Amino acid sequence: MIELAQRISLISESITLAVSAKANALKKQGVDVVGFGAGEPDFDTPAFIKDAAKQALDKGLTKYTPSPCYPELKAAIAQKFNRENNLPYKPENITTGAGGKHCLYMAFMAVINPGDEVLIPAPYWVSYPEQARLAGGVPKYIRGEQSNGFKITPQQLEAAITPKTRVLILNSPSNPGGHGYAPAELKALADVVVKHPNLIVFSDEIYEKLVYDDFQFVSFATLAPQLIEQTLTFNCHSKSFAMTGWRVGYIGGPKPVIDAINKLQSQMTSHITSFTQPAAALALTDPRGAEIIEQMRQQFEKRGQHMHQRLASLPQIVCVKPQGAFYCFPDVSAYYGRQINGKTITEAVSFSAALLEHNHVAVVPGNDSGFDTHVRLSFATSMEQIDKGIDRIAQFLQTLK
Ligand SMILES: Cc1ncc(COP(=O)(O)O)c(C=O)c1O
Repeated sequence: MIELAQRISLISESITLAVSAKANALKKQGVDVVGFGAGEPDFDTPAFIKDAAKQALDKGLTKYTPSPCYPELKAAIAQKFNRENNLPYKPENITTGAGGKHCLYMAFMAVINPGDEVLIPAPYWVSYPEQARLAGGVPKYIRGEQSNGFKITPQQLEAAITPKTRVLILNSPSNPGGHGYAPAELKALADVVVKHPNLIVFSDEIYEKLVYDDFQFVSFATLAPQLIEQTLTFNCHSKSFAMTGWRVGYIGGPKPVIDAINKLQSQMTSHITSFTQPAAALALTDPRGAEIIEQMRQQFEKRGQHMHQRLASLPQIVCVKPQGAFYCFPDVSAYYGRQINGKTITEAVSFSAALLEHNHVAVVPGNDSGFDTHVRLSFATSMEQIDKGIDRIAQFLQTLK
C-alpha cells in the first residue's frame, strides 16, 4: 500500500462532483437533463484562431519552445495590458501558463510561505482555497453579503488584515456571484491595500470582457501608482475567446515575482503548448478577436437578463442581478427544511441533488464557494434551455412540502 503525501489530505474533493457525475449518468441513460452547470461558453473558438493553430502545426511548430513561451506571445500580452487595461507591463513583466488555474497555482507557489494568510472574499471560485492550502497558506474568508451584492466593504477588508496576511484575492467580475466592483468601490479597497505594502493582490480579471448593463470594468493595479508593484494581474483566453480547452492563461506582475514563476515553470511544465502560442497572440492582436467577443457578450447579456428575471420571479427565491461572467447565484435557502419523497432539503447539495433527481435540472451547489444557501446556474446555454430549466425549477419548488 503506497502512502500518500500529506499535502493530498490538505485538499478536499469537490462535493459538487457527485452532482455532476449523477447528471452525466442520467444523460447516458437517455434522460433529458437541462444542464446549468457549465463553467464555459457554449460558443466554439473563433475560426481565425483555430486556423492560426492549424497553420502553426503545418509549419512544424511541434517542438519545445522557449520557457514560458515565444517572445511574440509575451509581447502581444504586454500590448494587450497596455492598450486595453492601462497597465504599463513590459514583456519582462509577463508570463504564461496552462490556463488561468495553472497561473494562479504557480503564483501561490511563488509567494506563499507556510502559515501565510490568504484573504478570500466569499462567494469565491472553488480552487482558490485549495491552491492556497497546497502552497502552505491558510485561507481566511471575508463574507460578501447578499444585501451588498456579494461585495466586501473596505471596513471588512481592513478588519481582516493581520501581520500574517500575505495575499488578497479579488475576482471582479466574479464566479460564482456574477457581481463586479464599480471603479469607485474597487478604489475604496485599493485605498486599504496601499496602507499594507506587504500585501500582494491577486487580481483575477478573467471575466473582464463579459460585463453587462454598462458595468465599467477597471484593472485593480491602475487604481494607485504603487499598486503595480503590489499586484499580480491574471487573465486567460478561456472565457473571453471561448478557448477553455486550449489552456492558455497569463499573468502580468512585478519582474521578481514573474522571474520566480518562470523558474518554477521551467522545472514543471516548461511552457504552454507550442502551436497554441501564435493563435493565442493573434486572438489578442487581430481586430476580429474584439468583434467576436462583443457578439458573444451581447448574447450572454440577453440570456443573463432573461435568466435573472425568471429566477427572481420565483416565489421566495432571492437573486442578485449578475453584472458580469455568466452565472446567476440565487438564494434558495427559503426552501430548506422542506421535503420531497421523504427526503429533507438541508443545504445546497441536497437541494441540487433533489432537483436533479426529480426534475432533471443540473445546477452547482454553492457549498464549495462558501455559500451553502445558494446554487449557481450558468447562462452559457440557449434561451430555450433557460426557459425549459426554469419551468422545471418552478415545478420542483411547488412540489416541496
Ligand atoms: C474566477 C476564475 N478564475 C480562474 C479560472 C480558471 O480558468 P482556466 O479555465 O483558464 O484555467 C476560472 C474557471 O472557471 C474562474 O472561474
